Amino acid sequence: MCGIVAYTGHKACTRILLEGLKRLEYRGYDSAGMAMVQEGVLAVRRAAGRISALEQLIGEDPLEGVTGIAHTRWATHGAPTKKNAHPHLDDTGRIGLVHNGIIENYTALKTWLQSQGKSFRSETDSEVLVNLISHFYQGNLVDAVQKALGEVKGTYGIAVVSADHPNTIVAARKGSPLLLGVGENEYVVASDASAIVEHTTSAVYLDDGEMVEITPEGFRTLTLDNNLVSKELENIEFSLQQIELDGYEHFMLKEIFEQPVSVQNTLRGRVDLEAGQAILGGLQNVAGQLSKAKRIIITACGTAWHAGLVGEFLLEHLARIPTEVEYASEFRYRNPIIEPGTVVIAISQSGETADTLAALREAKQRGALALGIVNVVGSTIARETNAGVYLHCGPEIGVASTKAFSSQLVMLALLAIELGRQRSLDQQQARELLGHLSGIPGKIEKVLAQSDQIRQVAQLYLQREHWLFLGRGYNYPVALEGALKLKEISYSHAEGLPAAEMKHGPIALINEGMPTVFIATSGSQYEKVLSNIEEVRARGGKILAVATENNAQIHKHVDHVFTIPEIPEPLSPLLTVVPLQLLAYHTAVGRDCAVDKPRNLAKSVTVE
Ligand code: AGP
Repeated sequence: MCGIVAYTGHKACTRILLEGLKRLEYRGYDSAGMAMVQEGVLAVRRAAGRISALEQLIGEDPLEGVTGIAHTRWATHGAPTKKNAHPHLDDTGRIGLVHNGIIENYTALKTWLQSQGKSFRSETDSEVLVNLISHFYQGNLVDAVQKALGEVKGTYGIAVVSADHPNTIVAARKGSPLLLGVGENEYVVASDASAIVEHTTSAVYLDDGEMVEITPEGFRTLTLDNNLVSKELENIEFSLQQIELDGYEHFMLKEIFEQPVSVQNTLRGRVDLEAGQAILGGLQNVAGQLSKAKRIIITACGTAWHAGLVGEFLLEHLARIPTEVEYASEFRYRNPIIEPGTVVIAISQSGETADTLAALREAKQRGALALGIVNVVGSTIARETNAGVYLHCGPEIGVASTKAFSSQLVMLALLAIELGRQRSLDQQQARELLGHLSGIPGKIEKVLAQSDQIRQVAQLYLQREHWLFLGRGYNYPVALEGALKLKEISYSHAEGLPAAEMKHGPIALINEGMPTVFIATSGSQYEKVLSNIEEVRARGGKILAVATENNAQIHKHVDHVFTIPEIPEPLSPLLTVVPLQLLAYHTAVGRDCAVDKPRNLAKSVTVE
């Protein structure tokens, strides 16, 4: 998704804005640009492609100033060209804007503006917005922005500058995150904290319908109808070091290897082994309602949806609460039935996924208790739930979600244990599970030690374009997750399935040498998985199995084995997913794919 960085203060800000854009690269983009007020005019540089192209352009034709806006664009309206790149200027060239989101009524607005004499250069909805601001501009920039946004339907995060107000930035948000980093007489506006944290760790998070006027002397936060809003200064939790590569070749590999630590961080302070309790402080204020929960609906997208599927097994097994998992994009339009006692849990790493946010709002509006399992502190989903818990797994930069997934599983296990203890789960069972959970970081380390073996196996299948991933029970969702990881970063087609489903059609896909990944760990359905493996072997498929260590028998049934230490079945996804993450990573590297910035993808999908 697009990224916004804006600065006003006492420093030359060209380098600040460029470095800020680089911190947002992981969000996904296909063009970039910058505008700066210099010598009373607005100067703009834009480039299609990577930020390095913009950097080169600015090197050849410098920008100098202390107030500016910058943007990485993920194309929605109009191709990823220089013409469509942000910032966009109004037709007088005196007002500049960068925009995240979608102006849904831009066509009607554009037609009307053209009838008022406005002219356009691009195909974008964002250029309509800056010309609308220009139309209302009578010398007061805040007023013009407020009037223009009053006419807009859709979502936006914007930053606006004007040649008439050389040190002022006006920013506003509705549906697209924006926060203001507050330094010493300098301010940085950005789409997320990654672009702010090297300047300051104090920030103001704008909420929907809010805006801010900033000058080096200070800022004021307002509603769109011009009422002052007092906002708390909040602390950005993570450090610069956490958003840097630290010697790894890719963020994805760093984050896969961070999992022993990130799981530990998610667990920290949340396990009372003695009492056999999970301590979920963020849910204390709704503990009474949770104890009476009759039904749980988990809603999410992508990897978070896969985590939700594991959560369904955990909550039904440990807490015996009927649970279903819904794609957020489907749930929000399905006219869902929400009876009293229904709890809806939104799972989202970024806390900004548009479909998940909309599903959460739909659930709240229908009377559900709306909870969040979110990683990014202060994100929109986190702020709009009735209660929730943060993963605390640190910023996840790689587009392919890895450490957030394992932390989501940890959180769901803790929640299932806590809800189970309010019902029929006895203290001893809870103690055992919590004990095993606490041992997960060390067990993940053992699986990570197989990374080079997995890399060597991946080399054998780099040319294969079709994969199957199969698992049963708790590990059926992990099969889906393994398939998603592989396809989203190596561009190989991969399908995840419940292992038994293969014979209802997909087995027709098996041909000589087709790589088929089975999760064949010890557990209630191990023998059945073994039969499925034989069905594939009989048709010439190549079998890559994730198995429990010390299982000597499986080697004669399969071509490659990646092992996990012994673990109770409900917690096994925390380990079985790791070889699949590494398999996807090494395959993508072997296929020279852009591992951290896969084509067409964005880290946080803030548009529908
Ligand atoms: C997972 O690797 C993908 N990047 C994607 O499916 C992601 O999980 C999905 O967009 C949901 O994102 P969220 O957790 O930030 O809501």
